Amino acid sequence: QIETKVEDLLKQMTLEEKVGQMAQITLDVIGKGDNRFASFEPFALDDKMTDALVHYKIGSVLNTANNRARTPQVWNDIVSKIQDVAMKNRLKIPVLYGVDAIHGTTYTVGATMFPQQIAQAASRNRELVRKGAEITAYETRASSIPWTFSPVLDLGADPRFPRQWEGFGEDPYIGSEMGVQMVKGYEGQDNTVGDYDKVASCMKHFLGYGAPTSGKDRTPAFIPDDVLREYHLPAFKAAIEAGSHSIMINSGIINNIPVHSNYNLLTKLLKEELGFKGLVVTDWGDIENLHRRDHIAKDDKEAIMLAINAGIDMSMIPYQYETFCNGLVELVKEGKVKQERIDDAVRRILKVKYALNLFDKPVTDSKDYPKFGSKEFEAASYQMASEAITLLKNDGNVLPLSKQAKVLVTGPNANSMRTLNGGWTYSWQGEKVEEFASKYNTILEAVQTKVGAANVNYVPGVSYKMDGKYYEEAADKMDEAAEAAKNADVVILCLGENSYTEKPGDLQDLNISDLQIELAKKVAAAGKPVILVLNEGRPRLISRFEPLMKAVVQTYLPGNFGGDALASILFGDINPSGKLPYTYPRYANATIPYFHKLSEEQTKAEGVYNYEADFNPQYQFGFGLSYTTFNYANLKLNKTAITNSDELQVSIDVTNTGSREGKEVVQLFTSDLFASTTPDVKRLRRFEKLSLKPGETKTITFTLTVKDLAFVNHEGVWTTEDGDFDLMIGDQKVKFNVINGNKL
Ligand code: IFM
Repeated sequence: QIETKVEDLLKQMTLEEKVGQMAQITLDVIGKGDNRFASFEPFALDDKMTDALVHYKIGSVLNTANNRARTPQVWNDIVSKIQDVAMKNRLKIPVLYGVDAIHGTTYTVGATMFPQQIAQAASRNRELVRKGAEITAYETRASSIPWTFSPVLDLGADPRFPRQWEGFGEDPYIGSEMGVQMVKGYEGQDNTVGDYDKVASCMKHFLGYGAPTSGKDRTPAFIPDDVLREYHLPAFKAAIEAGSHSIMINSGIINNIPVHSNYNLLTKLLKEELGFKGLVVTDWGDIENLHRRDHIAKDDKEAIMLAINAGIDMSMIPYQYETFCNGLVELVKEGKVKQERIDDAVRRILKVKYALNLFDKPVTDSKDYPKFGSKEFEAASYQMASEAITLLKNDGNVLPLSKQAKVLVTGPNANSMRTLNGGWTYSWQGEKVEEFASKYNTILEAVQTKVGAANVNYVPGVSYKMDGKYYEEAADKMDEAAEAAKNADVVILCLGENSYTEKPGDLQDLNISDLQIELAKKVAAAGKPVILVLNEGRPRLISRFEPLMKAVVQTYLPGNFGGDALASILFGDINPSGKLPYTYPRYANATIPYFHKLSEEQTKAEGVYNYEADFNPQYQFGFGLSYTTFNYANLKLNKTAITNSDELQVSIDVTNTGSREGKEVVQLFTSDLFASTTPDVKRLRRFEKLSLKPGETKTITFTLTVKDLAFVNHEGVWTTEDGDFDLMIGDQKVKFNVINGNKL
């Protein structure tokens, strides 16, 4: 039915009307020049708006003017004014409004901010991830915005990359599992985004975005085809199969070809091989970047031709929408872009607009969303933070702390809502967080609430201070902090990073800053137990002082309720259950993921194979402690050999052997012992989170098929070769083998 409507409309459209649909402008383009958006006042129709929406018939708008969050009511007002203008056009096609609602409705004041995706992955709780996306969809629609640029499905295999925290970490299987949950949460089980509490999702950034050689944003990557397919592609493939309505393209260059002009990736792989029927949108200004930055097009017009012919459907922020629209019309008239390509693009765009029911109701009314920012929604965010926070070290069971202890709280991340949330929170770099999140608790405030302000001393030691345009770290009563540590029973040392995203987050050095290391050493010198609380988007190296820390707790970017969840864990009201979604490196020259090759572990003694693990990260992928203990026993397989036509049933008993209730993530790994391309040392194949009372045993059963063990061979084909495999769960290990695997 949607298809019929799309075809009917398409038939009536002129070339100019079609091309207008293919452009997306930022609200700034029609909002600049006065302060009307910032003042939260409705704005009047003006020349620029008429030009863009009536003359050029622009099909989409994104983000927020002046990089500023608005209340849902103001959003209703802004979007309604835009739709009013768009609907005055001959064919009355509503505008598709999109925002980066990546961990909550980013640009809406009062919306529920969740832990960022990296923390969601650490929770290993599929249900919570789905619930978070459902709430975000509801609150985004309440703001009259029907499209979110989320989930991020980029593989986070490089801890230097400034957007590692926006994804689900280094493992392709976790990325696929969690990505599907997010898509379903945003779009609904049947992707019925037309219900006005759902939004269209946008998988990003297709493909290979997280792996530039330099570790810096939007710099060249060299990724062999088999690696691209085996590690980077699965999360996108799974989310496409889950029905996601749109996809955003990687701004970078892979193997010397900018992805935005790569016909093989965008049309051959994405649209033909994977059968993606949704809308393909560029990243910011990336068509013109083919000329201006990547130098593969001699001018903007050639850049438009390359991108559209490669398979792009919508241009996010053409530097000048006039040049884009006029240029594309000319290209069609000159025969350089085929009319069918334009029709394919517009068909995909209109399909999303119809699916969202924008033609019937282009604007929602926030009054119809009584649960917006409710306690129920906040509780879901708190729970996710509680299940994400990961206990990495607990020498002598120093944690949980006594609520009677005299505590020193110190460090640059101790008293900041901005650091708890990270980028894309109320503003692009998260710089406006303090303005809108002051009603929530920082770590310091949460600890004070938990144990009483009288028990808590606070000395920053180091602070993030605005220095011109950027935040710099500065010593802030460091010696006082060291002195105060002497008078405390325990020190809660909160280190990490200030918020960032994209290029501003590029790093020169993965080590945590010198000033923070100095603070850590100084407070540790007092001889009191130091609890290191990490609050960071990526694993900054801590090996220079970690041995001085009694306990280490990773909070990632846990959102508006992360401080409260942390305090509950530190003082024993919650038993931690998060597991690392990446390998925490110990050294800058050892940033390899857990699924590396065995030779990475054989370099200890020069010239001599040394099977003792030289792969010696600070903390292993999948690691995370609890206040209770778990025992694994009776690992059993229903058969010792499988073929491509049967299933392997794997069962194991997990017992809570400690004295308090806890949650454990059961993780199943396999190792392919010999293959025609060097196999990874191991790969995660399944995980499940269980809750166990003291003394309780649960038997968990996983099912595997030959397909689950496959890799991409040197011919680019998914295959499982015959031979022996190891299967590991906890400290248990069994062998099995594959017969007739090749015939997948
Ligand atoms: O969605 C983002 C993308 O992740 C980075 N560039 C800008 C886009 C829109 O804000």
